[in-house]
Formats: sequence, C-alpha cells, structure tokens
Amino acid sequence: MLSYTWPSLLAACILCTLNLGVADLSAQSSDIDRGKAILQQKCARCHGIGRTDESHHPQAPPFRDVVKRYPVEDLAESLAEGITSGHPEMPEFVFQPDEINAILAYLDNLKHPTQNDP
Ligand code: HEC
Repeated sequence: MLSYTWPSLLAACILCTLNLGVADLSAQSSDIDRGKAILQQKCARCHGIGRTDESHHPQAPPFRDVVKRYPVEDLAESLAEGITSGHPEMPEFVFQPDEINAILAYLDNLKHPTQNDP
C-alpha cells in the first residue's frame, strides 16, 4: 500500500470509480488512506484531522468532533456543494465524487476507534 506511487493510486481510484459507480460507499482501506491524504493536504493546516492532534487554527474544530456532531451524509453534501459557511478565511473547496467517497471513508473510520486504524 505505502509503496504505491501517487499516479498509480490515482489511476486505480479513477478506474474503480468508473467500474463501481460513485454510489458505492463501502469503505475500502485504500479509500481511507486516500481520504486522509486529501484532508492532510487541504484541511490539516487548520483542522486536527486525526484522533489526537490539535487544530492549528484555534477556532477550527478537529474533525473527530465534527463527525460526532454531524451525520457523515450531511458532510458529503457540503463537500459536493462547496464548504463555505463558517469559513470566512478559507478558499472554497469543491470535491469530486470519488474524492468525497475517500474523505467519507476516512471520516467514518474516525468514528470507529478500533477498526482499520490508518
Ligand atoms: C484556513 C483555515 C481552514 C482550512 C484550510 C479549513 N478549515 Fe474548516 N473551518 C475553519 C474554521 C476557522 C472553522 C470554524 C468556523 C466557525 O465556527 O465559525 C471551520 C469549520 C469547519 C466545519 C464546520 C464545523 C461546524 O461545527 O460547523 C467543517 C465541516 C469544516 N471546517 C471542514 C473543513 C474541510 C473538509 C476542510 C478541508 C477541505 C477545511 N475545513 C479546511 C478553518 C479552516
């Protein structure tokens, strides 16, 4: 898994999205890893994204708290439409369906402490 290069990982994700359709929300551990990578890249400079890390931005809630407050499906909608509310300082993020699948897999996993810990 860790030996995958980014291009091959991306190609695999695009292929599996085409094959399985974006409605398949069953969490694969490769999705979880990819979701974590996306959040690390785009969100981690403000939000805590893991189980114990602090948010760098004092007002940004760590995602482990966000997932307790909101159903993951609600977050999916925001991710697809663009997260703007509550983010005055932040560029608008809009994610593609395959990226959303990966992010949700990661966030969902965050709620289950013992399962597939990335
Ligand atoms: C520039 C800093 C910054 C970045 C980058 C950032 N956020 Fe935020 N985010 C915030 C702040 C600050 C808040 C709290 C705003 C408030 O409460 O008014 C917030 C709030 C949120 C909330 C709402 C929590 C709630 O309780 O309403 C969600 C969901 C969220 N962010 C998701 C994300 C995601 C997903 C990313 C990456 C794609 C991201 N954020 C990147 C600063 C950031």
